[in-house]
Amino acid sequence: MQTSENNQKPKRFSGIILHLHPKYINEEALSFTRTFGLGGMAALLIVLLFITGILLRFYYEPFPQKAYNSILVLQNNVLFGQLIRNIHHWCGVFLVIISFLHLLRVFFTGGFQSSRKVNWIIGLALFVLVIASNFTGYLLPWDQLAYWAITVGTSLLDYFPFIGNSIREFILAGDEVNANTLLIFFNFHTAVFPILILLLMAYHFWKVRKVGGIMLPKKAEEKKMVEVYPHLVYREFIVALALIAVILLFSVFFNAPLLAKANPDVSINPTKAPWYFAGIQELLMHFHPFVAAFLIPFAIVFALAYLPYLKLKDEPSGIWFQSEKGKEAAKFSAITASVITTLLVIINEFIPDFETLLPWLNSFISNGILPLLIILALLWYYYKYVTKKFKLDFIEVIQTMFVFVTTAFIILTVIGIFFRGVDMALTFPWNVL
Ligand code: HEM
Ligand code: HEM
Repeated sequence: MQTSENNQKPKRFSGIILHLHPKYINEEALSFTRTFGLGGMAALLIVLLFITGILLRFYYEPFPQKAYNSILVLQNNVLFGQLIRNIHHWCGVFLVIISFLHLLRVFFTGGFQSSRKVNWIIGLALFVLVIASNFTGYLLPWDQLAYWAITVGTSLLDYFPFIGNSIREFILAGDEVNANTLLIFFNFHTAVFPILILLLMAYHFWKVRKVGGIMLPKKAEEKKMVEVYPHLVYREFIVALALIAVILLFSVFFNAPLLAKANPDVSINPTKAPWYFAGIQELLMHFHPFVAAFLIPFAIVFALAYLPYLKLKDEPSGIWFQSEKGKEAAKFSAITASVITTLLVIINEFIPDFETLLPWLNSFISNGILPLLIILALLWYYYKYVTKKFKLDFIEVIQTMFVFVTTAFIILTVIGIFFRGVDMALTFPWNVL
């Protein structure tokens, strides 16, 4: 491998950069479409959340009598108060989306295998922390939206067998959202989770460096090495500026929501969980709660954590979707899953479900086991069909099924957020927003 001829002395701030990056990287790694800069964007959003979060702390008071008012004061009487709150809000939303897209990019380029196994698991832990940070932050404004979203969000735990109820009461420090819940959420949100995120992020970055950077295809070995500064740093700078511009645009034009002060006696209609749990809430409309809120989410989390331990291929590829046929099969899966999921939701809204058709059966069987078995049988049939149609090898099949399940979940989430109105009936987005 050759190094760049341009072997000058390190520039001024290269000291800081070299803590994050090596001095040289493979030219192939510079291509934007390898990572879309998603890991870096997630890191930047976390930095912005920390800065704006610390600023918010100067005014915010975590007590039910004061919290809502402190947000009003912040918005109306503090210079740039509303803007800072909006930036914090939009960074929180974007972080969930961007870190999820980063997870997909790592998966579809095979970056979770062999020496990157542990980093995949660390990534999953980071993702859980991102959701937990969002969830605890959601309660802090102490308005009707916050109060009822956290009530519905935590009630999902009730469907966990045996210990669910106790876990919910433990998290809420009572049997419903109360003053102690607010204080506990505040402390987790502004101290415990940020520290854990910082520690795990440092470990995550170190692991990326330790294995020699991101996963690249074999042909990259012939490419030359170039200096990180300016080649990579300039590109990162442009991505960072673009992301900051988008966040600022959102923050200027769309305010973070704030309804009336929380009132435990009057619920809002529809009462929705925070948006990232809308997919699970949507599943609850179609399946027995044990299946919707426990079995399916746990199966997905387990499958994600188990993924790197499947023996998929001797040589991880670093190629998007592994091959052309892998890409075609993934596209086919995304389209099929979108159509089927949408159709099933609409059918279920207008045609009586098994619980109504078979009233003599226990609802756990009629509304849980029976539809689950039907879905699993369809997935099995689809697995066989798609393997034969595209002549896929094992990793491509796993990828195709992953696309199918992920797309279905995204569609459910979109329906839950934008198409569920009063009494959670299906409606058009302009009746919801
Ligand atoms: C939420 C905060 C996260 C941050 C700040 C972060 C940051 C990064 C960065 C900067 C990289 C290097 C290149 C790139 O941009 O892709 C990277 C790579 C990686 N990330 Fe993350 N990540 C996060 C979450 C995740 C998640 C949710 C997963 C998956 C479950 C994950 C798994 C990985 C793996 C396996 C690599 C190495 C990939 C390769 O070598 O191609 N990360 N991460
Ligand atoms: C990954 C990191 C973080 C995420 C994802 C996050 C997310 C959120 C979210 C979604 C809200 C509700 C905002 C709204 O929509 O009204 C919020 C509120 C808040 N956060 Fe964070 N946050 C993070 C880190 C921090 C940190 C580090 C601090 C302070 C040290 C902080 C302090 C606050 C405060 C005081 C509020 C209440 C103000 C408000 O609701 O507008 N946050 N956070």
